[in-house]
Amino acid sequence: MIPANIIEDLKFRNSIEDVISSYVNLNRSGSNLKGLCPFHSERTPSFTVYPGDGHFYCFGCGAGGDVISFIMRIENLEYVPALEFLAKRAGITLPEDDRQKKDGVTRSRVLEMNLEAARYFRSVLFSPEGASGRAYFEKRQLSGATIKHFGLGYAPDSFDSLKKHLRQKGYTDEEMVAGYLCQRSRKNEKNIYDCFRNRVMFPIIDTAGNVVAFGGRVLDDSVPKYLNSADTPAFKKSRNLFALNFARNHTEDGFILCEGYMDVIALHAAGFENAVATLGTAITPEQARIMKKYTDKVTISYDSDEAGQKAADKALRLLAEVDIDAKVLSIPGAKDPDEYIKTYGAAKFKEVLSGSKSKFDYKVTKILSKYNTDDPNEKARAAREICYGIADIYSNVERDIYIRNVADKLELDPKSIAAEVNGIIKRRNAEKKKTMHSDIVREISGIGNRADPDYAKNVRSSVIERTIIGLLLIRPEYIKLLSGDAPITEEDFSSSLTRRLFKAITEYDKNGGFDFGMLHESFTQEEVSEAEKMAEARRRVRSNGEDVFMEAEKRLREEAEKRRIKESRRGDLQSLIDSKRKKD
Ligand code: UTP
Ligand code: MN
Repeated sequence: MIPANIIEDLKFRNSIEDVISSYVNLNRSGSNLKGLCPFHSERTPSFTVYPGDGHFYCFGCGAGGDVISFIMRIENLEYVPALEFLAKRAGITLPEDDRQKKDGVTRSRVLEMNLEAARYFRSVLFSPEGASGRAYFEKRQLSGATIKHFGLGYAPDSFDSLKKHLRQKGYTDEEMVAGYLCQRSRKNEKNIYDCFRNRVMFPIIDTAGNVVAFGGRVLDDSVPKYLNSADTPAFKKSRNLFALNFARNHTEDGFILCEGYMDVIALHAAGFENAVATLGTAITPEQARIMKKYTDKVTISYDSDEAGQKAADKALRLLAEVDIDAKVLSIPGAKDPDEYIKTYGAAKFKEVLSGSKSKFDYKVTKILSKYNTDDPNEKARAAREICYGIADIYSNVERDIYIRNVADKLELDPKSIAAEVNGIIKRRNAEKKKTMHSDIVREISGIGNRADPDYAKNVRSSVIERTIIGLLLIRPEYIKLLSGDAPITEEDFSSSLTRRLFKAITEYDKNGGFDFGMLHESFTQEEVSEAEKMAEARRRVRSNGEDVFMEAEKRLREEAEKRRIKESRRGDLQSLIDSKRKKD
């Protein structure tokens, strides 16, 4: 457990305003800041940052929390890696977290050791010992710049050179084994030897810049062709993508998803810096979700053999599940994207990329096939149906392109198409405004909420419970008000979410202090957002004095008492029925 004072310090050094500004354009609005929400697409800002208490909340999608929640969402990091990310940003180091240890080896030790190993592999590559590695990269037409960019290296043909190097740097055998850089000898458990030998090395770097794992390729046709790190305290294969650290900054055209390290490297070198690859396995749902964080568009560019096409089908399905608009690239005349670029060049690859049909083109073709466009009436209907599709498109520029494109196709004036599209958008916005207010009320009160599913079971009590949690979150000092003669306890809560929140807040408070960020230890992101929603509801009403808290506590006690009486009556009735049955 990371103690509250460390988290508070971390937050002090990473002001929410500062951190969020580097991802979102924020404008001042009263004492708060507003911007377009990075977690869902919107045209008018409903994403609000409260620099005063270090929180954010989006009225559009309900995402909310503190600076840690923000980093977890936007960088797609777990709790502890998010803390590490913020620590790094502020130039401080976190104390070790014991739970991440495996055989006594911690994540941060493995990360440090990996970085040392990556440096070692690189220095060997450029030493006389690395001649065969350099020759191999040359054969694959990798430039020196590309090798440096990806931090590539060479593991010498030796069973102990990395081991010796790491020992000298102070790493233990246990650490090398847990980090999958060395293995224990089967003959003698006490001996360990290097896993990667005589292989060119590809470091896998996460979005926080850590070297989390390695892939190593043989220089000839021996098997296995690639050797990859197994899961370690610092790495989970199913949750990482090769080159995501670079590609995430180049998603204007979505991602290009490949099968191999070499495909990705060739694509980046040719200017397609949005290429990523899974790590020697089929794409996982986690990887699909990670991609969705950055873009809604993925071009699958797998090997052209049967296995590759089968894998592409599977990827299409998985990506569709997270609502990614995916298409499959066909590259005739080459076995994989790497070979395609080498044979036909980058310009040709770009052509193939842009030539593949988009979902919208596909839709237009389908609509047009339904109507006889020689008939003016039917043509008008087709145009109107297409306009609804165009109105769905978020980008102004893209809409413009489609408007002209469709006007051309139907031989209509682009101005009239544009007017039709704008009319649809205006009508929709007016609709939205009407429902917006009631939406906010519903959202904040928690009606029909997945994260607080017990809400509807006991609305009266739930409203009070949410008030208490909301107040404790924006005024943590109220925890001390609970120390009266008969303070409420978790048993007084009717909803399981508010009960768990209450328990977490009070227990953290007892054991060294509570900070909102600590909720991430045992609550899902959805639940943390829900907690933020409770805090937001209190910020909106603005009357949050101690008296309000005391009153809510009193009313919760009454509600709980009523429930207990009801339950015991039900119990009495039941025993009455039971005893009667026995007699009969
Ligand atoms: P490929 O066999 O298509 O390799 O495997 P490649 O990337 O085109 O490599 P080159 O061009 O022959 O050098 C695709 C990916 O599958 C994983 C690797 O991640 C590889 O990049 N793989 C393949 C393994 O993990 N182990 C293997 O033995 C082979
Ligand atoms: Mn290849």
